[in-house]
Amino acid sequence: MQATQTAHGAAIIVNEQNRQFHLTNGRISYIIKADEQGTLLSLYFGKAVPDREDFGYLIELAHRPTSTCRIDGDLHYSLEHLRQEYPEYGTGDYRTPAIAVCQPNGSDMVDLTYDGYHVSQGKPKLEGLPATYVDNEDDAATLSIDLVDRLIGLSVTLNYTVFADKPAVARSVVIGNNGADALSVERAMSLSLDLPDSDYDMTEFTGAWSRERHPHTQHLHYGTQQIESLRNASGHFANPVAAFARPGASEDHGEVIGLAFEYSGNFDLHAEVDTYDVTRLQLGINERGFAWHLEPGETFQTPEALIAYSDEGYDGMSRAFHRLVLDNIVRGAWKRRERPILINNWEATYFDFDEDKLVDIARTAKQAGVELFVLDDGWFGARNNDTAGLGDWTPNPARLPQGLAGLSKRINDLGLKFGLWFEPEMVNKDSDLYRAHPDWAVHTPGRHMNHGRNEFLLNFANKDVVDNIYGQMSRLLDEANIAYIKWDMNRFVSEGYDVTRGAEHQGEAYHRYILGVYDLLERLLQRFPDLIIEGCASGGGRFDMGMLYYTPQIWCSDDTDAIERLKIQYGTSYFYPLSAMGAHVSVVPNHQANRITPIETRANVAMFGTFGYELDLNTLSEEEFGKVRSQIEFFKRYREIIHTGDFHRLVSPDGNEQAAWMVVSRDRKTAIVGDYRILLTPNSRYMRLHLRGLDENAQYRVSCTGASSIDGAAFTGAELMRIGMVSSDGSYGEMGDSEPLGKASDFSSRLFVLTAE
Ligand code: GLA
Repeated sequence: MQATQTAHGAAIIVNEQNRQFHLTNGRISYIIKADEQGTLLSLYFGKAVPDREDFGYLIELAHRPTSTCRIDGDLHYSLEHLRQEYPEYGTGDYRTPAIAVCQPNGSDMVDLTYDGYHVSQGKPKLEGLPATYVDNEDDAATLSIDLVDRLIGLSVTLNYTVFADKPAVARSVVIGNNGADALSVERAMSLSLDLPDSDYDMTEFTGAWSRERHPHTQHLHYGTQQIESLRNASGHFANPVAAFARPGASEDHGEVIGLAFEYSGNFDLHAEVDTYDVTRLQLGINERGFAWHLEPGETFQTPEALIAYSDEGYDGMSRAFHRLVLDNIVRGAWKRRERPILINNWEATYFDFDEDKLVDIARTAKQAGVELFVLDDGWFGARNNDTAGLGDWTPNPARLPQGLAGLSKRINDLGLKFGLWFEPEMVNKDSDLYRAHPDWAVHTPGRHMNHGRNEFLLNFANKDVVDNIYGQMSRLLDEANIAYIKWDMNRFVSEGYDVTRGAEHQGEAYHRYILGVYDLLERLLQRFPDLIIEGCASGGGRFDMGMLYYTPQIWCSDDTDAIERLKIQYGTSYFYPLSAMGAHVSVVPNHQANRITPIETRANVAMFGTFGYELDLNTLSEEEFGKVRSQIEFFKRYREIIHTGDFHRLVSPDGNEQAAWMVVSRDRKTAIVGDYRILLTPNSRYMRLHLRGLDENAQYRVSCTGASSIDGAAFTGAELMRIGMVSSDGSYGEMGDSEPLGKASDFSSRLFVLTAE
């Protein structure tokens, strides 16, 4: 037996004789074994167990009639029934395979057997792809297991990284062609895991424009339940994450397994339950539209998938993913760093602005305490509406007579940083770029080109295209003082094809496009390391762990209505931390929902995110302006906690009465609770919020931004967590009687700050 254990506690215990691998960190165990046939088996993933020399007793070799069997004369060993780590199709397993590789003779069957392993400290990079990393080699250990199909010269290396301080494992796969003939990889999952039973509730996060990432839960049933994207973006419709919870699991107890994909293109996340109740979880690039041509000597690297385990309910799962994002995904200057409070002109002006109007908005925002002014769409080329200009990244002199250098200087002189909107991947037909390079737009030769919002994708699989856009963007970043970019992407792919490559490479077009996007992001960040890039895709249409590697914050949704945002941000929080969620206060009636909510509530929701404003503050009354100023002061005081603390969901906005959530500083000395009324129920029930994550022995002093009878009182953490924090008074109280505490109304809200004494 051989163990590699890092100083911080990530361990890989290898029993060479039994070909058994046990990844553990004291919180989780992931146990894998190559059996005598060389099949790589899943033995266990879950809460940590002590190691034992041989977990082989977990392998089930029952004789089941009608099975296809591996060993002559033996009726027990069937791949159909073994729980595997990287299954194939064609050798008797009739479930969905993890891999398929087409060969010169037309067969796509592979037959993989164990061929060795390698263990290292730390976490290797994935060339050209986003991936988790560690700052210190002791923070993780990585196991690589080699599988081989000797007949066709195929090698498959499965990489597993266990993190020292998180109940999580990262997986990815490298597929190599060591044979004499070209091969075509037609399916290559990043993660495949067989679980011994199917008693799980699957929660996925589906939606559409303006209502992204709403959680939906259903119990697993026989057959396949799948979420996917074929839009070559993760999309508004399904997010590449899912939770699998034991029935009855709640926010703070019960077992939950979470899966997340660090990739921004087409994906397939599914759970397949066979009639023996075995569950196969798979996550990877969608096989539709994918085929990777491998010449002899070439390799293909899959994106990375993350799997986390919690025995502390959904909350524990969320904490694992939030900390992975904060510690192991977000990089560079903006890692665990407070983000500037911004004002964005989109909803304030849309396309109707000139330089003076922008400066006017910025000046007043500065007086309110805002730190960054962001100029949205419409500043470039012939972009006076959304039919022209994309691709021509030069300032429009009619709007910006002094160019970006002039505008950014005026903004900087006010004491604000300057930020700028781009949609780097797109082109309008009405643009100089398209007129010069019509073949740069993604299209299939001879076919009609469908548009989305009058725009077309640039073929980011073509390096010349990426170089051109890099040239245009970096020139502007050199010329003007630009601290922030909003990176938008407003349409999904159609007629996907790469005219720069031959027929055998067409299955690569979608993935190469995404690699081109990552390449451009990486090159800009290398050259301008202090730049903050905020992701965006018609709101939250590309909100994923892959983008977060480059863009530490992402615009959550074009829907800025506070009540809709409660649902969107609540759903988003299952996998993504508050520092990742772009959230702004906008005008009422709201432009998407036509709803009127108080300015307090708009801010009380947006503060649980990367906070900003998206309106012209000059249009507010003096009283409202004063409120904005206090909101900004409040946020500045607590933003470090909001952006790096632990978030807990308390009451789901799914009902129509109340929603609540909270964030606690890592030292547990300060907490902020957001308590939201949705619709008023007159003479409503008595309410308490059961807080989480506090120090049970500490005494917390309560201060409330609205009216509350407990304002100024102190309670122990134990009381607040077990008995609960009384929240049914003040704006929740009986209407007539509680006048001194303020009247309740639809859409009212309060923040409670709890400070340990
Ligand atoms: C998308 C974005 C918006 C805004 C507009 C500009 O819809 O999501 O925030 O930037 O584009 O055209």
